[in-house]
Amino acid sequence: MRVIRCKDYKDASRKTANIISAQVILKPDSVLGLATGSTPIGTYQQLIEWYEKGDIDFSQTRTVNLDEYVGLAPDHDQSYAYFMNKNLFDHINIDKANTHLPDGTNRNAKEQCAAYDELIRELGGVDLQLLGIGHNGHIGFNEPSDEFVKGTHCVDLTENTIDANARFFEHRDEVPRQAYTMGILDILQAERVVMIITGESKAQILHDAFCGPVTPKIPASIMQLHPDFTLVADEAALSLAEGL
Ligand code: F6R
Repeated sequence: MRVIRCKDYKDASRKTANIISAQVILKPDSVLGLATGSTPIGTYQQLIEWYEKGDIDFSQTRTVNLDEYVGLAPDHDQSYAYFMNKNLFDHINIDKANTHLPDGTNRNAKEQCAAYDELIRELGGVDLQLLGIGHNGHIGFNEPSDEFVKGTHCVDLTENTIDANARFFEHRDEVPRQAYTMGILDILQAERVVMIITGESKAQILHDAFCGPVTPKIPASIMQLHPDFTLVADEAALSLAEGL
């Protein structure tokens, strides 16, 4: 495991964007595994800036996202497909046909999860997977549990998550109850994994995930075992992780 110490969020975003940019320059048809959430937004903005300057060409790049809400169509403003379009894909020269997320409109979970794992296989696997981390150690929607789930699967969202999301919807009934997420083996099988962690509020979970044992109770901790894992973190997030 490699740790890249950064000054702050901006520095971490630029360094992460540099790694992704190098990947795309070295292998233009790379399969990038992408994440949503607030953390990667700065990375995506930096990539857009470099694209606009003519430094990166995404015309051959393929992407697979980690997760999507069940029941939301790509044009719903709370869907992860919408997030990716708004924060990255609409601003670069990627072919949208080469961008993939689990299909939230397919309510047949078994079929959709098998199809997504098959798609990743058909693409030849993920070259570089970008990850964030939840305050409880989740990656994608792989929540703390007694066991790691290997492949793409459907998760029931906790009441806490449903409550937290309710503010984005007109009625609580519209809030998704489930999500599709890539599994832990899908993530481990990526050639390279880069996780970005910033801010003081993530210091405790960074410590627990990377200074302690590997456990499904902290799903991100499994990344300690990945042969090419890079943690890009700022000083605030690293403040409790002595010795890393
Ligand atoms: C979303 C995802 C999530 C986020 C995590 C952290 O695709 O993979 O696991 O990375 O919830 O979210 P932020 O960055 O908002 O703290």
